[in-house]
Amino acid sequence: MRKKIVAGNWKMNLTREAGTMLISEVVNMVRDEVNSQVQVVLCMPYPYLGFAKRMFRSQANIALGAQNCHEKPAGAYTGEVSASILRSFEVDYVIVGHSERREYFKESDELLAEKVRQVLANQMTPIFCCGESLALRQNGDYVGFVKQQLTTGLFHLPAQDFIRVVIAYEPIWAIGTGLTASPEQAQEMHAALRQHIANHYGETVAAHTTLLYGGSCNAQNAPSLFACPDVDGGLIGGASLKSREFVNICKSLPA
Ligand code: PGA
Repeated sequence: MRKKIVAGNWKMNLTREAGTMLISEVVNMVRDEVNSQVQVVLCMPYPYLGFAKRMFRSQANIALGAQNCHEKPAGAYTGEVSASILRSFEVDYVIVGHSERREYFKESDELLAEKVRQVLANQMTPIFCCGESLALRQNGDYVGFVKQQLTTGLFHLPAQDFIRVVIAYEPIWAIGTGLTASPEQAQEMHAALRQHIANHYGETVAAHTTLLYGGSCNAQNAPSLFACPDVDGGLIGGASLKSREFVNICKSLPA
């Protein structure tokens, strides 16, 4: 069985007091309301990582996530954070290749392949993001484009490492826009990606790979998206900043 995951991506939001309150509200609600088979991941800005884990250490179904890491193991890279530093603060998951980083920080799939390697080498789980632009969705081979992102970013991995990766399909046109992919659009892409994985790694690996959907996911649309056979959960941006909304999304994922 593949893992069911709902990951919240706070992005660059919430200062200390509001962020700490959000963590404690989510921790309490997840403990009381969310099926323990659903893995909840909170991906927060770096400064939170040093203390957040203490707030949910005893709850196995909440994990700590970072939003990025550097591609080199250590060294003179002022302002950057390595995968080994993250691991030493008990981080479990790292988002790699979010479309905002691809766009604003010019991160290529080749660079992301290095980041994935670092995350895995430090016993954490990469959440590898992929997805097409609106122009490509309207006029191009959008499925081929996203498959290629996987090929370049991930298919260098041997199967025993690849099975530790979580993939998040996030169409860029749906991120922060209120325009969600329909369940049919999400399922079409997820099924194509699973087939692409099967062609490279075989059916067993593909069947065990967790594929998340992200892009304007909220408590209203999550149930129909999560009902798709190849959607194994979500990567949630804006809606992860509101405890009630986020936990309702977590509750709508069938365990
Ligand atoms: P959104 O962001 O839910 O606010 O659209 C999703 C993401 O960027 O991970």
